Amino acid sequence: MPNFTPANTFEFAGRPVHRLGYGAMQLAGPGVFGPPKDRGTAIAVLREAVASGVDHIDTSDFYGPHITNQLIREALHPYRDDLVIVTKLGAVRGEDGAWLPAMEPEDLRRGVHDNLRNLGLDVLDVVNVRIMGNIHSPAEGLIEKQVTALAELQREGLVRHIGLSNVTAAQITEAQGIAEIVCIQNHYNLVHREDDTLIEELASQGIAYVPFFPLGGFTPIQSSVLSTVAQTIGATPMQVALAWLLHRSPNILLIPGTSTLTHLRENLAAAQLNLSDAVLAELDAIGEAGGGH
Ligand SMILES: NC(=O)c1ccc[n+]([C@@H]2O[C@H](COP(=O)([O-])OP(=O)(O)OC[C@H]3O[C@@H](n4cnc5c(N)ncnc54)[C@H](OP(=O)(O)O)[C@@H]3O)[C@@H](O)[C@H]2O)c1
Repeated sequence: MPNFTPANTFEFAGRPVHRLGYGAMQLAGPGVFGPPKDRGTAIAVLREAVASGVDHIDTSDFYGPHITNQLIREALHPYRDDLVIVTKLGAVRGEDGAWLPAMEPEDLRRGVHDNLRNLGLDVLDVVNVRIMGNIHSPAEGLIEKQVTALAELQREGLVRHIGLSNVTAAQITEAQGIAEIVCIQNHYNLVHREDDTLIEELASQGIAYVPFFPLGGFTPIQSSVLSTVAQTIGATPMQVALAWLLHRSPNILLIPGTSTLTHLRENLAAAQLNLSDAVLAELDAIGEAGGGH
């Protein structure tokens, strides 16, 4: 694995975007359903993120549903010119909060209009098509219908850039025959390393890799090696997990999710952590040993 000092930005969607962004999923209520318990804090988290230099926010209209996008609009509209809001399509929510696939072209079109309306935009910067696969891991299968539908929405001027989520290398190649793909959002972190090879391939093509669950998602990463390293360098385990990702490859853009100002500040400070070769080797060994999820 190449070692380098992480650069501050990566060219994404035609702009130099800071590598530490923010994922808005945690702003909805429990189970990513319904309103947050503290709406004022949710608004404050979004405003402080952008005031601190975050220029990349990841969201979806199925968070809440609608609520996360409405919070983003309330907190940040009119948006700064340099803010890239990335949204995703591919599901709707049942009345009980169930995640229901919505992958037909008419579903994707409706999803684009839902995002435009709730974010208060005329055009979406980047839209990820979230393929269902095996829920949190990709599974092979044709995605031509979905990417063609997005390419049509792009031609109509409703979408600027297209990305993919929860996909295999073969699906990325299939999609690239239909449209330009600017980012891949798959499950990846210190202990979940299935995409190691894919990340290098995407880096060579200048395509952003945006790991979801960078901190482990609903079950944050636990590792005694991580805790020991963190203690030694005077950081928190979650900061070290983020810093490891920043050192992993220059095309990795981070969207850690949090509902609290304390964690937001900690996560943004992770961009300042410089990890030595020895520390990186120790951390690499966690995932290489199959350290679990
Ligand atoms: N494409 C997809 O299928 C997909 C799937 C899942 C997520 N996503 C996107 O990826 C983003 C990130 O994923 P995620 O939010 O699910 O998972 P994550 O970033 O890996 O972890 C979030 C969890 O870690 C906690 N946390 C955050 N910062 C922390 C810190 N400094 N110290 C201790 N705990 C901390 C959060 O709780 P607190 O709120 O208490 O901080 C929350 O429970 C989401 O916001 C969403 O935009 C995409």
